[in-house]
Parts: sequence; structure tokens; C-alpha cells
Amino acid sequence: MLTMTNLEKTFRTDLVETHALRDFNLEVKEGDFVSVTGPSGSGKTTFLNIAGLLESYTGGTYMLDDYNVATLNDNQRSRLRNEKIGFIFQSFNLIPDLNLFDNVDVPLRYRGVGSAERKKRITESLEKVGLGNRMKHLPSQLSGGQQQRVAIARALAGEPRFLLADEPTGNLDSQMAKSVMTLLKEINLQGTTIIMVTHDPELARQTSRNVFVKDGKICDAAEVHTMPLASNQ
Ligand SMILES: Nc1ncnc2c1ncn2[C@@H]1O[C@H](COP(=O)(O)OP(=O)(O)OP(=O)(O)O)[C@@H](O)[C@H]1O
Ligand SMILES: [Mg+2]
Repeated sequence: MLTMTNLEKTFRTDLVETHALRDFNLEVKEGDFVSVTGPSGSGKTTFLNIAGLLESYTGGTYMLDDYNVATLNDNQRSRLRNEKIGFIFQSFNLIPDLNLFDNVDVPLRYRGVGSAERKKRITESLEKVGLGNRMKHLPSQLSGGQQQRVAIARALAGEPRFLLADEPTGNLDSQMAKSVMTLLKEINLQGTTIIMVTHDPELARQTSRNVFVKDGKICDAAEVHTMPLASNQ
């Protein structure tokens, strides 16, 4: 369970102060599949990075399960992130000169998982995304949709309880986007909680819940219907 209460994130430079999030309130329950939509610059990525313990916040409370995130030091925060969270990004972020097996292996080595267990997890997660027969391929030998599947496998190999995705289909054509979405729905049905930022209203409709962010805040459902889904579509 993830709970944000009156969360605030202000970016300060000498010249400007940007309130990326303010009065941001959200509760995500175990097993949810939440899509996050909203105009460009509304704070979606900032929210996701804070949720994934990649970025700090400047006010309010963030509880991840039983942990009050503000009370954790850097080490405790990285440990919690490794233990609970998987990330996928719009640009896949694969390492070009490593084959699929080794790409999925990177975070597992980093976590100090033993070699037999790593091999098992890598094989299983690549099989799960339908790429079990491509383990020795390089990312450049795959389609965009397949590359995103590798990134999903890499996240799944860490056995995360929360999968956070920032526009995971943003670089994919609609057919590939559909197949990635089907995979995410399967993963969610198997028990992983997913939060997905997307500009695609069609995908947002397929999740169990959609939240709309505007000016760093979650708007309530009544407002959602009166506003365009994204200003930059
Ligand atoms: N490192 C930073 N320094 C200063 N301002 C930042 C920084 N990161 C984000 N911002 C500002 O915070 C606000 C929210 O940005 P964010 O990236 O969260 O938007 P977004 O909703 O993800 O937009 P998009 O749909 O374009 O990805 C924007 O005004 C942005 O300019
Ligand atoms: Mg963004």
C-alpha cells in the first residue's frame, strides 16, 4: 500500500520556484492497476519518481507499506526500492552491447543475488514476456515492443510488489502498445500493483483506476470529465 498525503515537491533555482506537486493526495492499494494521465508538465513523472524512491519530496507524508519514507536514510531507501519496486521507462533503457540475458542480469548482480538464482529468475522472466528463445540477442535485434518486454522482464526479475511505468508505450506503435498493455494486465492479475503514466486514454480506460493530475494535484473524477485528457495530444 502506498499513501501520499498533502505531498509537495518544489524545485528551486536562483531564479524560479516550480511547484511540481502540491497538496497531492493518493492512496494505491495492493493489487491496483492505476493509470495516471494529465497535461505535459503537470507532475506525473515527478510523482512516479517520488513513489519509486528515486526522488525526494519537500513536504507532506509518503508512506510505503509501513515505512514513513521521510524517516529513512539513503541506504534504507535504496534497500526498500530494491526490495519492492520495479521501473519501466518510455525509452526502455537497455544496455545496447549486452544481450537480453545480461541486461536482465544487471540489477540482480547489483543486488547480490546468487548465480543459480539469477539464472532461474532471468530465464523465467524472459519466458514470461515471450522472449525465452531470444536470450542471446542484442536489444538492437529486436522490435521496440520486444525491447520494452525485455525492460519489463528486467523489472520482474527483481520480483517487485510495485511496478512503476512512465509512458511505457510512448515509443511504440499502437499494435505493440496493445501487446505491452496485455502483458502488464497479466502481470497485474498475478498480483503486482502497477502505476502507469500514459498519454493514451484508450490504455488508461483499461486499468482498474485512472487518476488525472493537473498543476501538481490529483483532480477528482467529476473534474476529469470536463477537461481534455492531455493538453499536448
Ligand atoms: N529537475 C527539475 N528541476 C526543475 N524543475 C523541474 C525538474 N523536473 C521537473 N520540473 C518541473 O516540474 C513540473 C512537473 O514536471 P514533470 O516532469 O513531473 O511533468 P510530467 O507531467 O511528467 O510531464 P510530461 O507529460 O511532459 O512528461 C514541470 O513544470 C517541470 O518543468
Ligand atoms: Mg513525464
